[in-house]
Amino acid sequence: MDASSYPRYTGTAIALHWLIALLLLGQFAFGLMLEDIPRGTPARGYYVNLHKSSGILIGLLILLRLGWRLTHRPPPLPASMPAWQRHAARFSHIALYVCMIALPLSGYIASNVSRHGIKFFNVVRWAPWGPDDKQLYALFNGAHHLFALLLALLVAVHVLAVAKHMLIDRDGLLLRMWPRRAAAPDRTHSNLPVENR
Ligand code: HEM
Ligand code: HEM
Repeated sequence: MDASSYPRYTGTAIALHWLIALLLLGQFAFGLMLEDIPRGTPARGYYVNLHKSSGILIGLLILLRLGWRLTHRPPPLPASMPAWQRHAARFSHIALYVCMIALPLSGYIASNVSRHGIKFFNVVRWAPWGPDDKQLYALFNGAHHLFALLLALLVAVHVLAVAKHMLIDRDGLLLRMWPRRAAAPDRTHSNLPVENR
């Protein structure tokens, strides 16, 4: 099948997929970097609040993406794909969405069952809506940690699956999620004088 006629996700779905993938990668690295900042220092409070704030914005973008996905049917999978692979793709996409939602949500809840709450971009203080409960905090913080690991694992499998499709099956699956290039101008008659076109 030629690249321009390959069935694709909508432009909005493609833009959101790549934007969110990039932002999640950065946010993941940011989270790991937090581990190196000593607890109880002003620098830690500053960077943790930045992480919380960017995480909330990414979470909202993920909700927007989920809303788009639920209202827009994805393009049909290649007919050559066996049933087990269709099921695996569906299951892994659902698992990716679950982790993408649960990760910022667990961080948000953890922040609200701690007296620290959230200081949005270190400017606006949002008072926590929950109790200051160390056990609850440990539970949601543990979930945040677990979902971060799970998401990293799922993304690794996701990328390996795409690589398999591209290199072994050679069915061009990546094109479904790749921005369409602007159509080349029709040059068939472009050398003719304007009055003869
Ligand atoms: C949007 C995607 C997010 C990603 C990919 C992400 C990723 C991470 C990672 C990898 C860590 C370090 C490992 C760990 O201890 O769990 C971390 C720590 C943390 N995250 Fe997030 N996070 C996200 C959103 C949020 C949000 C929305 C909040 C709160 C509103 C938040 C609050 C925290 C806090 C407080 C820590 C430090 C935990 C500690 O060291 O005790 N995160 N995050
Ligand atoms: C944080 C990183 C990533 C996340 C969270 C992610 C998540 C997702 C999700 C949830 C879908 C399903 C789309 C839907 O039906 O709504 C998807 C599809 C897709 N992703 Fe990713 N993705 C990531 C990175 C990547 C990377 C690096 C590649 C390229 C190697 C890639 C290639 C694709 C392709 C080709 C599809 C379409 C698959 C199909 O048509 O069945 N993704 N991605």
